[in-house]
Amino acid sequence: MRFETIAVHAGAEPDPTTGAVAPPIHLSTTFEHGPASEDPYGFHYVRDANPTQSRLEKALAAIEQGEAALVWASGMAATGAYLQALPPGSHVVFPDDMYYANRVIARDLFPRWGLTSTAVDGFDLAAIQAALTPATRLVWAETPSNPLMKVVDLARLAELAHARGAELLVDGTFATPALQQPLALGADVVLHSTTKYIGGHSDVQGGALVFKRRGDRFGHVAELRSLLGAVASPFNSWLVLRGLRTLAVRVERQSASALALAAALDGHPRLTAIHYPGLPSHRGHETARRQMRGFGGMLSIQVAGGRAGALDVASRVRLFLNATSLGGAESLIEHRASSEGPGSATSDDLLRMSVGLEHPQDLIDDLRQALDRA
Ligand SMILES: Cc1ncc(COP(=O)(O)O)c(C=O)c1O
Repeated sequence: MRFETIAVHAGAEPDPTTGAVAPPIHLSTTFEHGPASEDPYGFHYVRDANPTQSRLEKALAAIEQGEAALVWASGMAATGAYLQALPPGSHVVFPDDMYYANRVIARDLFPRWGLTSTAVDGFDLAAIQAALTPATRLVWAETPSNPLMKVVDLARLAELAHARGAELLVDGTFATPALQQPLALGADVVLHSTTKYIGGHSDVQGGALVFKRRGDRFGHVAELRSLLGAVASPFNSWLVLRGLRTLAVRVERQSASALALAAALDGHPRLTAIHYPGLPSHRGHETARRQMRGFGGMLSIQVAGGRAGALDVASRVRLFLNATSLGGAESLIEHRASSEGPGSATSDDLLRMSVGLEHPQDLIDDLRQALDRA
């Protein structure tokens, strides 16, 4: 079956006790034992697993073609558990452009966890290969990346990582499983902040890891989740599951609108750069065409006049909302360096946009009037 069909039907069996078509939300924190103190229904305590969360995990494993999935209270909870499950002494290769909180983890927490890391240009496979050492256990990829939209060839990256005995994890939050399937391209695990496109309505926080194999790493990460407790609540699991059902159509529309917006803004005299993998001038365009079904709903622009120029444009939009995050129905724009805070490596003139579900011409008109008046 194709992605759209799986996304609607995976983990969507009618409730066996009532026939309800929409999945029930099981709020119970505990589950009745059998006479030998066994768990006859497969559930024991909410921090280990709960039926609504399990439905979501089943659905995510199916859409990513993985053997198993684990869902979390946030994308960062998933990230933290995966990294903490690495043996002390492990070396991690990160892209230089990636979600900023991961950079802070590498800088501030890795020394405490006994891990080391090297950051390399996420476009540059040769640089990534050169950064691999005998201690490298993990290559972390984020493609397209946040906020520069760098794209890396995942099939090649998987070969490079595996040749050195390292795992490949792909943060696929921007691409979504509707556009990119990292496990099919050779990755070992895919991470999503389900707060974004999969939830899809800016009203739920969550994270997910989908594993190609239900192996040792899965076991260690599952144990950490159970012990440390950053599980997805039943209600949040339900909201993410509901978002998943419409992911394909939302992302198809958002990608088409982002492409139209990027094409319309390309060459505007107030812009010094535009970062969108759907533009033929983008350095990762050919790779994105090969490994993605669309180019996604995220883009970044750099504005003449530095920080002041960028803030001016962000304050003149009428339809785009000036707020962080992404993947919802409403279009957002933000001054990325301000959101990342002190120590941000993002250029001060950069605005990041999440294209929503409004009519694309209204979005183009809004950005044009903001740029023209700035
Ligand atoms: C690419 C990417 N990965 C991970 C995260 C972290 O997700 P969360 O905010 O759900 O913890 C984010 C959040 O913005 C993100 O953009």
